[in-house]
Amino acid sequence: MRLTDDEKAMLDGAEGRAVAAAMDLLVRYGNALGAERLCETRNVAGTTTQPSPAKTALFEEGGWAKAFAVISLDCDDDIDMPQMKVPTCQLQHGFGDEALGIMPYGKRNIEIQADAESFYSEKGVNVLATCTPYQVGNLPTYGEHIAWMESSAVVFANSVLGARTNCEGGASTGSASITGRIPCWGNHLVENRYGTHLLESSLRMTGFQDWGMFGYFVGDVVQEARPVMVGDLGQPDLADLKHFGAAAASSGGVEMFHIPGRTPDAPTLEAAFGGRSLPDAVHYGERERREIYESLNAIGDTEEVDFVLIGCPHASLEQIQVVARLLDGRRLASGTELWVMTPRALRTVADRNGWTATIERAGGRVLTDSCPAMSRVAPVGTKVFATDSAKQAHYLPAILGIEAWFGTTEECVSAAVTGRWRGSLAPAEVVR
Ligand code: F3S
Repeated sequence: MRLTDDEKAMLDGAEGRAVAAAMDLLVRYGNALGAERLCETRNVAGTTTQPSPAKTALFEEGGWAKAFAVISLDCDDDIDMPQMKVPTCQLQHGFGDEALGIMPYGKRNIEIQADAESFYSEKGVNVLATCTPYQVGNLPTYGEHIAWMESSAVVFANSVLGARTNCEGGASTGSASITGRIPCWGNHLVENRYGTHLLESSLRMTGFQDWGMFGYFVGDVVQEARPVMVGDLGQPDLADLKHFGAAAASSGGVEMFHIPGRTPDAPTLEAAFGGRSLPDAVHYGERERREIYESLNAIGDTEEVDFVLIGCPHASLEQIQVVARLLDGRRLASGTELWVMTPRALRTVADRNGWTATIERAGGRVLTDSCPAMSRVAPVGTKVFATDSAKQAHYLPAILGIEAWFGTTEECVSAAVTGRWRGSLAPAEVVR
């Protein structure tokens, strides 16, 4: 890999041992990937403050600097932990104090999390604590090279914002945060961003659940390739594209998609494919939509619902408002819990608007920082849960060994109020 003079100096220790170790890691990583150079980045999103068992053990042995050295720099030396060199934010992490008494989540976890948070925020990490940093002020610009983790955030950043990132890991984001560099390969290069598969829908999407099902279908078809969706799909909003990408990154490993005329790298169908000839289209219609719906509900069997989860990826303000409106003046069924997961910054707005109070009056909760899949936790005794998120329906049953129902937000809230699942697939809006 070719390095600039500045990068060679970092590698040679001009900015200290931690930066030298980070540069060494990035060079090894880049060489393994066949990258020819590093890109400069001023936007890193990682999971530095999230204690894992390995990180916690290292912290107890030698503090957070030790944990950072081993996990983020692949370095066993004692190092002085430097300040973040470029803006770096924390993605989702564990639950905070609000978890106490409402879920089987250890106090020690919360204390360690708080300790990590205070250490790393002093080092310059911006603790957004969400899988949707783009909802709370981290909005990379078109063409900007960034270094992000979290599959749903990566696909959103590449496809909807037109920023450029691969799906990074804890080590590469840690090293990027103190060097401002990341290997320039994959989605950073224009030639790797063109569409590979054409998906043609004969249905108009009627809400984010529909977009989620479509995304789940697309991810299953293309796996890690780059789909281009055409048809009279309707105008997607933020929640629609958030759910579409998250679902496509769950059933497959999609990091980049195009919707000609809607997403920034695809002003036209031809541009989406970089002028190359178009592949044969894969069709998405009523039959495919029903099959996806049935597969997302395949492990739902028991009608009694213990737990309803809204907000995967973390809910937007509009989603919280919808839940508040649906719950206004109602009460959750005894023995049923409803959690809305959202970034803490949006929760503040929801508090101010009275939506949190409305949800809490009904017996629900608006929670932040984490989610059941990430923290592997649900209300005590949960056997059956319902969600409006294709991604959460995909992951949570396997993680917690529980049954899942997937449906609309209205159906989920209704299940929380009645304690029973009564969902069904609404007719599709066929456009041709
Ligand atoms: Fe976010 Fe958890 Fe879903 S981290 S994308 S709410 S699995």
